[in-house]
Amino acid sequence: MTKVCLIGLGRTGSEIARIIMKQRDMKLVAAICSDFSSKAGKDIGEILGLPETGIKVYTSSQVNYVIEKFKPDVFVDFSNHKATMNYISVISENKAAIVIGTTGFSKTDIMRMKVLAKKNGSGILYAPNITVGVNVMMLLSNIVSRILSDYDFEISEAHHKHKKDSPSGTALKIADQVEEGLQYSGVKVAESIPIHATRAGGIIGRHKLMAAGENDKIEIIHESFNRKAFADGALRGIRFIKGKKGYFEMKDVLELEKVLASFFDNSKVPLAKSSS
Ligand SMILES: NC(=O)c1ccc[n+]([C@@H]2O[C@H](COP(=O)([O-])OP(=O)(O)OC[C@H]3O[C@@H](n4cnc5c(N)ncnc54)[C@H](OP(=O)(O)O)[C@@H]3O)[C@@H](O)[C@H]2O)c1
Repeated sequence: MTKVCLIGLGRTGSEIARIIMKQRDMKLVAAICSDFSSKAGKDIGEILGLPETGIKVYTSSQVNYVIEKFKPDVFVDFSNHKATMNYISVISENKAAIVIGTTGFSKTDIMRMKVLAKKNGSGILYAPNITVGVNVMMLLSNIVSRILSDYDFEISEAHHKHKKDSPSGTALKIADQVEEGLQYSGVKVAESIPIHATRAGGIIGRHKLMAAGENDKIEIIHESFNRKAFADGALRGIRFIKGKKGYFEMKDVLELEKVLASFFDNSKVPLAKSSS
């Protein structure tokens, strides 16, 4: 039985808490909120609109107590990136694993995650795009740009008005995949792939890659209908990272690089430019 502690009980964390509590192979042992949160000390059932669960919400300054008392195998963080960096140090030093769903980290932060995982021999899964479908979209973006390397590529994304980072981390990663695909096909990428971002209403999340040639275009679209898509990804992440040492991303969980390598090596997809 995997013991899980959830950090951040906002829109996404709450959905993940509900789904973890329904699993047979894992147990939610505690949740952590910020020091001044109104959720501190409450039963998680009260926050989620469920009957009493016996699972309490602790504050960020009680993280050491939570580690000592419950010995969680895996922490899952959907809070905010400034808070997360402090949590990661303590959790990694105590050799517990963590799935980081929070976004907005700098390159230096990510480097620090890698260092901590190596130094402490703990498992860190950095998953700024935890939805399985979005990861498949990234793989497809890479493949399309390898084959249609003379097409023009543009990304558009839309999220709810509360989302702070813009463009989304996922859109930036899709752009990286397109650039990697183009480079694979010998194209020198001089300018970054254009990204258009919309922040409006309650849109959960939508990403579109358009590859347009002279005579046709392909569009790859991923849309999350609800936050359960994030929770599904989080469950996969928890099962993957338990007991592992090192720094990982969702592409490791889903073995996407293996898929890409086998696709291109085994089926010998022609990488020639498209012809009219
Ligand atoms: N990886 C993905 O695919 C994915 C998907 C969705 C969202 N996200 C990311 O996940 C994060 C949360 O998103 P959301 O939409 O759930 O936001 P949200 O509704 O604002 O929830 C964030 C929660 O974090 C809590 N929090 C703030 N400081 C904290 C601290 N020091 N310790 C513990 N909890 C703290 C806040 O509540 P209290 O102040 O009451 O504690 C709040 O409930 C964002 O970075 C978002 O971009 C990622």
